[in-house]
Amino acid sequence: MKILVTGGTGYIGSHTVVELINNGYKVEILDNLYNSKESVLDKIQALTGVRPEFHKVDLLDYPATLEVLSRGFDTVIHFAGLKAVAESVEKPLFYYENNIVGTLNLLKAMKETGCNSLIFSSSATVYGDQGVARLDETMETGRGITNPYGQTKFMIEQILSDACVADSGLSVTLLRYFNPVGAHPSGLIGEDPNGRPNNLMPIVMKVATGEIPELSVYGDDYPTPDGTCIRDYIHVVDLAKGHLAALTHMSAGCSVYNLGTGRGTSVLEMIAAFEEASKKKLPYKIAPRRPGDLPELCAVPDKAMRDLEWKTELTVADAMRDTINYLVKTNSLLKI
Ligand code: WQD
Repeated sequence: MKILVTGGTGYIGSHTVVELINNGYKVEILDNLYNSKESVLDKIQALTGVRPEFHKVDLLDYPATLEVLSRGFDTVIHFAGLKAVAESVEKPLFYYENNIVGTLNLLKAMKETGCNSLIFSSSATVYGDQGVARLDETMETGRGITNPYGQTKFMIEQILSDACVADSGLSVTLLRYFNPVGAHPSGLIGEDPNGRPNNLMPIVMKVATGEIPELSVYGDDYPTPDGTCIRDYIHVVDLAKGHLAALTHMSAGCSVYNLGTGRGTSVLEMIAAFEEASKKKLPYKIAPRRPGDLPELCAVPDKAMRDLEWKTELTVADAMRDTINYLVKTNSLLKI
C-alpha cells in the first residue's frame, strides 16, 4: 500500500512515517519545509532503513501538487499546515490561505488522479468551549473557537465532510488530536519548531536548555485541584500509531475520532514530571491567565478504542523521559 504523507518531515508527520515504514507501508513525503528540516529524512532512514521519496512542494502550488499525486497513492495522510495559535491571530489570511487553499488543492489533485482515501490531522480545538471538561465526537463543533488556526481545522473538517456527501466513493477520517508531547524513544526525532514556541512542552524544553530563562505558568486560580489548567497530553508515538489504526479501518464516508488518553494532567504536574525525569529543577513563575485558555480539556477516547482497536500505551512520564533523551541527543546546550 502506497501512502503520501503531507507534512511528513514535521513533528507528528515524521513519527507517523517511521511507524508506517516499520509496518511495511511504502511512503512518500510532500513538505514545503516551512517548519521542518530536510535532515529529518536522515533520521527516518536511520530508524527504518528506508529513505522515503521526498517532494519539496508547497500545497499552494497546484501544478506541483498534481505532479506528486500523479505518482499514484492509495491513501493520503494530511499533516501539512500552519499550527501556531498566536501567529494565526496576527496573520489570519496567511493561515486561511495556507491551510484551506492547500487542502482544497490536495483534494482536487486527489480527485484528478483517482485517490479517494484521506486521513486528516485535525485538533480538539474544533470543540471550542463546550462548558464541560470531557469531549466526545457527538458534540457539536465550531462554537467558541478563539483563533484562526482553530477555525481552519473546523472549516477543513466541514469541507471534507461535504466532499464525502457529494462523492460516495470518498473515504475520509478526521483525527482530533489532544496535546501531543514526547519524542521517539531513539532520541533521533522530536519536536523542533522554528521560532519562538507557544505550546507548553517546546517552551519547557527551551527552559531546560537555557534558551528561555523561566516558564510562565499561565494562571494558578483555575477551578482545578492545584489551580493550573488540565490538558490531555498524548505521547507522539501513541498518536502516530493512531494513524496506522485509522488506515486499517478506513470506511466509506467521513469518520471522526478523538486521539487522546482520557487522562488529564495539570501544568504543575507536567513541571513535576519533567523535574522527576531530569532530576533538575525547572525555573518557573506564576503568570496571569492566557486569554482563551479553558480550565480543563480531556478526550473521551472510547470511540477510537472501540472502532479503531487502538489505545494509548505510554504515559506523561514516558513522554518526559523521551523528551529529555531527545534534548540530550540533539542539544549540546543541555546541562541536565
Ligand atoms: C497547554 C497548557 C497553557 C505555555 C493548543 C491549541 C490546540 C493544539 C495544541 C496545536 C495550557 C499552559 C502553556 C506556557 C503555560 N494545537 N501553558 N505556559 O492551549 O491546550 O492547545 O496547542 O498545534 O489547538 O489550542 O496547548 O501547549 O499551548 O498549553 O502555562 O508558556 O499549558 O495555559 O494550560 P493548548 P498549549
